Amino acid sequence: MSKLIVTLRDGEEREIDGAAGLSVMEVIRDGGIDEILALCGGCCSCATCHIHVDPEFAAKLPPISEDENDLLDSSSTRDEYSRLSCQLPFGPELDGLKVRIAEED
Ligand code: FES
Repeated sequence: MSKLIVTLRDGEEREIDGAAGLSVMEVIRDGGIDEILALCGGCCSCATCHIHVDPEFAAKLPPISEDENDLLDSSSTRDEYSRLSCQLPFGPELDGLKVRIAEED
């Protein structure tokens, strides 16, 4: 199990265990955090799984796809470290990854 550190919207930080093979969205959701709606279930069509990733890990993440990029453009809180968490496979290489849940649009 690898660790994922999640900052909630109120600033509380939680450390959760994530199994390889899940997406970061699924790890957050299975960790009992309900601030990620993930309305589309992870098929990259809703943007309700928006997170900001720690810049230190940005280079370890898969490149952003055109669909993800277009969806993120619909968010008023997008920044250079914005990602859709359903598009990020979790695993040992991301152990200790820190993410912050984006504000609701
Ligand atoms: S869960 Fe809908 S885009 Fe990620």
